[in-house]
Amino acid sequence: MRRVLVVDDEENIRLVVRSHLRRDGYEVEVASNGDEALALVDSFGPDFILTDVRMPKMGGLDLLATLKAKGVDTCVIVMSAYGNVDQALEAMKAGAYDYLQKPFKAEEVLLTIKKAEERELLRRENRALKQEIRHKSQFEEILSKSASMQAIFKTIAKVADFKTTALVTGESGVGKELVARALHARSNRRTGPFVAVNCGAIPENLLESELFGHKRGAFTDASSDKSGLFEQATGGTLLLDEIGELPISLQGKLLRVLQEETIRRLGDTKDVKVDVRIIAATHRDLSAETKAGRFREDLFYRINVLHVHVPPLRERREDVPLLVDHFVARNNARFGTNIRGLDAEARRIMLEYGWPGNARELENTVERAMVLAEHEVLVADDLPDRVREARDPIQMHLMSQELSIKKTSRIIEEILIRRALQKTKGNRTRAAELLEISHRALLYKIKDFGVDV
Ligand SMILES: Nc1ncnc2c1ncn2[C@@H]1O[C@H](COP(=O)(O)OP(=O)(O)OP(=O)(O)O)[C@@H](O)[C@H]1O
Ligand SMILES: [Mg+2]
Repeated sequence: MRRVLVVDDEENIRLVVRSHLRRDGYEVEVASNGDEALALVDSFGPDFILTDVRMPKMGGLDLLATLKAKGVDTCVIVMSAYGNVDQALEAMKAGAYDYLQKPFKAEEVLLTIKKAEERELLRRENRALKQEIRHKSQFEEILSKSASMQAIFKTIAKVADFKTTALVTGESGVGKELVARALHARSNRRTGPFVAVNCGAIPENLLESELFGHKRGAFTDASSDKSGLFEQATGGTLLLDEIGELPISLQGKLLRVLQEETIRRLGDTKDVKVDVRIIAATHRDLSAETKAGRFREDLFYRINVLHVHVPPLRERREDVPLLVDHFVARNNARFGTNIRGLDAEARRIMLEYGWPGNARELENTVERAMVLAEHEVLVADDLPDRVREARDPIQMHLMSQELSIKKTSRIIEEILIRRALQKTKGNRTRAAELLEISHRALLYKIKDFGVDV
């Protein structure tokens, strides 16, 4: 970080600043106006730009605006003549890092650049760290830093290449489809198709032909031959979503396909071999469905070879801030908005809410808030009533069907710990006192629950 571009229409200033900075080991180029400077930004690649505000042909403010528009985030320091503080401030508002008032001493220039250099270093470190954290908590499209999801990532990586059938379960909106897609993307079938079908969304009489295809004339509307989704997924992966909704009549046919790896189009007399990796997903408890006689036991055993259960978001609250930031950034890019994040209260509400609709509900909540937002920071008022009113997460949890004392106390403990840490601004000794537990017990729980402050 030693390259400085000096932009001033006064030759004297250019020469003086250049010689001082060079003496201190900086590489320096000079330009006499914004136009020239822009050309040098590309060829010289400066780390810092020291620019005068008022110049004939593109002044400093225009230069700054042009750089911003081009997405160049080189650190810009403006120089302005005594009495022109307003312009300097305007430049700072427009994104300049600092300003120097003319006339200045050589040491002032050096000090300002050094200060900027330190900040740039920190910024770069920060960016690298953030990227590292993101890298560690991302698996294909799935973001998560919770231990339970990390274990799922490991499983996926391990079994992706095997053609075994996988069963993905979990509440609605937890990311079952993302898990299925990750299994496909990590497998040696990744270049093949990924086909998803929602077994609950297609009428029973059409589903069979949808899955297996038909011959022309197989039924009234079959005016030509049609391949089914199994054939379309050949060489790739077929996700049978909401398999719990599959009509019992088709369950037997599916079992046969899975066992023999061949399908027969409706109205056809011969079988076709299919090479497809099957992933089934459901929000239902299939073993209970089996006991209730709604799901064939033999099919259940056939698909339950590798079971991945995606835990609900309320059991991995450490993922909430990660997902919130992700959706805010993604929507900023999509809507061209510039929302910086959530204020403390909105964050707390998001953290403590029960998210019965899991990541999908969170995704929609963030999107809605961003559309309604009146400021750059989202506040509690931007959140829907149901989220805001659910301020008592403990009550909410008790109202759910959960009976496990272990799970419920964990949730209560986690909420109290977060509150205590927030109140003490992260001071763990004082938080432990408020919580009336030992410092050691607190450290253990912080680690165990993945609470970070
Ligand atoms: N861990 C995650 N990281 C990033 N995005 C996520 C994550 N989990 C879920 N999402 C997003 O939330 C939405 C719901 O995810 P997905 O469709 O995979 O859930 P699902 O379990 O299949 O839901 P449903 O049961 O309703 O079909 C998607 O838009 C998905 O991109
Ligand atoms: Mg789904």
